[in-house]
Amino acid sequence: MSLVPLDQDGRLWAFNTPHSSYVVGVVVDPATDEAVVLQKYWGANLPPAAAREAAAMPAGPGNTPGAGRHETSFSRPAEIEEVLPVDGGLRWGVPALQVAVDQVRSLELRFVGASAVREGGADRLDITLEDHAFPIEVVLHTRVYADSDAIARWVTVRHRAGKNTAVEVSRLDSGSWFIPDAEDYRYRAVCGAWAEEGQLQQGLLPVGELTFTSRQGITGHHANPWIMIDAADAGEEHGEVWSVALAWGGSWRMTTTRRPEGGTAVTAGFGHDGVRWTLPTGAELVTPAILGLYSANGFGGTSRGWHDHVRRHILPAGDEDRPVLYNSWEATGFAVTEPEQLAFARSASALGAELFVVDDGWFGRRDDERSSLGDWWPHRERFPDGLRGLFDGILALGMRAGLWVEPEGVSPDSELYRAHPDWVIHLENRRRDRKRHQLVLNFARADVHDWALEWLDRLVANLRLDYLKWDMNRPFTQAGSPEPGRSHDGVWIEHTRQVLHVMATLRARHPGLRIEACAGGGGRLDLGILHHTDLAWPSDNTDPVDRQTTQHGVSQLYPANVMSAWVTDSPNANTGRSTPLRYRFHVAMAGVLGIGADMSRWSPEELDEARTLVEQYKTVRHTIQHGRQYRLGGRPGAERSALQYVLGDEVVVLVYNPRGNAKSGPRWLRLTALDPGARYEVAAGGDTDGVPGRLPARSRWHGGTLMAVGIRPVAWEPIGADYRSDLIVLRRTRA
Ligand code: DGJ
Repeated sequence: MSLVPLDQDGRLWAFNTPHSSYVVGVVVDPATDEAVVLQKYWGANLPPAAAREAAAMPAGPGNTPGAGRHETSFSRPAEIEEVLPVDGGLRWGVPALQVAVDQVRSLELRFVGASAVREGGADRLDITLEDHAFPIEVVLHTRVYADSDAIARWVTVRHRAGKNTAVEVSRLDSGSWFIPDAEDYRYRAVCGAWAEEGQLQQGLLPVGELTFTSRQGITGHHANPWIMIDAADAGEEHGEVWSVALAWGGSWRMTTTRRPEGGTAVTAGFGHDGVRWTLPTGAELVTPAILGLYSANGFGGTSRGWHDHVRRHILPAGDEDRPVLYNSWEATGFAVTEPEQLAFARSASALGAELFVVDDGWFGRRDDERSSLGDWWPHRERFPDGLRGLFDGILALGMRAGLWVEPEGVSPDSELYRAHPDWVIHLENRRRDRKRHQLVLNFARADVHDWALEWLDRLVANLRLDYLKWDMNRPFTQAGSPEPGRSHDGVWIEHTRQVLHVMATLRARHPGLRIEACAGGGGRLDLGILHHTDLAWPSDNTDPVDRQTTQHGVSQLYPANVMSAWVTDSPNANTGRSTPLRYRFHVAMAGVLGIGADMSRWSPEELDEARTLVEQYKTVRHTIQHGRQYRLGGRPGAERSALQYVLGDEVVVLVYNPRGNAKSGPRWLRLTALDPGARYEVAAGGDTDGVPGRLPARSRWHGGTLMAVGIRPVAWEPIGADYRSDLIVLRRTRA
């Protein structure tokens, strides 16, 4: 059982995952009856007796009121260990829950009860607290899965029916996670910008408060809602790492507090500074989930824990192999026409692509980014007979068909906006500033999300679409929802919820439909959107070298089967860098392979090579998309690096060397996670020039040798050209 009660009173519980335990307990102050829910332990698995002992230890770095002779009036309270520290009582830290009742911003909660619920392969515990005087009820939910190391938590806040009280919520986090006491702490997170997403940053955690946030109404390119913390001693494959991720695709805020007296905690939730939600009598606000995952196996082990969780419990179709896609955006821009798209479809199909996606430019009068978002009918000049001809043609080639849409976007120069200027997110008497010449539709309005669902549903049905690329190119500004009876700031939550609701409804009506999440590249990639989508477009920058850095950042939390990756033309449209076709393919093979090039410019040799590489990818994609990933070697994109995937008996290794002639750096690549006593046969890649450590076809090697000594990839030799790479496949043999 994953949820284990640890006491008779129903106030202490252990949540056990396959490799960790998380212990929480309710502590009631006998003098005031105030209850706090404390995190008592989070780390490696503990049997119940040890978990009980751990829980009985005095509070860690905090000073519980009256706890000892060193307490002074300035000593910090134990709030850092609370699973949801409120604004109220004897607390000075970051409040995870801040509520004003008739303008009094101070909660005093008492324990009401707790109940456990069995949910298939998961256990859930709900702990209910209520304010002793105000009509506020708080329920702390925790879910633990039998087959995942991630623990999910979320919160419901209710304004209980009763007398007419004004309740305003200014912070409602999904939960706070306490990181055990250590000499020092280091954080790992990603930062970035448009076309430079997923840049890994790592540093010592400063004493103080460190906030990562998005105020954009979408997840954002500049940060991603997760953090990993270690005691400055973990490596890629060793050491303890505590990580936290928020499942939300709108604005968010994640604050890590490190106190001078010791103790670190991470609290995160939807919303950002200044946003306030009014909670009418009888209403409730439910947060998205925040997930915590402990690993004793370094950052690599942490990533694999997240990958497993995303595939098993977040993605709607996480066990499927994703098709090889073609999309002409980088080749044609907005200029999509039926004859040219069909020509691309024919050559993409000849290369082995299985899904053809028509990108921006097919609708309204959309010739560039200045108009037509909202006018979701075929562009009359480009598609005078509609889109059926094109889509029938794609389907006739045996490919699946997909279409780009941006349902939340609206161009002021559109028939939709002229008819419904009040449908956009705006504030009265404030400008409606444009960005990328567009505004955002207010999905919090029922007429707007009903409209979106209606045209999307019709489009998917009429064109027999298997796939939507759902883009979003305009962060929120001047955001409000000025309809009578509505909370202005409610739009920051409700918009995201309704976007997800439209996606979920479409999927329910069209079970074969798959959705790619995109927001001008990687602006909306998070565990929230992935509940209703299948993969995400990590960046508009398709330069393979830059992509290696981005993919490295993305891979920290997200598995390969959510990472859309295209091979595009060389020199690259974003960077002007020239790279060999093979390198571009090998980089894109680390995710869901797609092609985004103008193949009419490829030579017959390049087309042949591409066909072979697509074919090769298909033979190994199951292992890449669903296997356990190991990041080997140096900094991806800058140094010799490699990725290894293991699933069952198959081992796939992608090897890269961007600086071909670099004399420094390793030559030998030690593989990992193999069966030391078993022998592995070389199924593809390697080389046959007789150098020790090379892998002649069909040669067999002990797993122990491959791990202890390693292999010597030709691509890693300092013998010339830049951007060399290889795909090596090994299979465990029974002999
Ligand atoms: C931004 C996306 O990231 C691109 O791939 C492309 O779909 C454009 N939008 C289309 O406007």
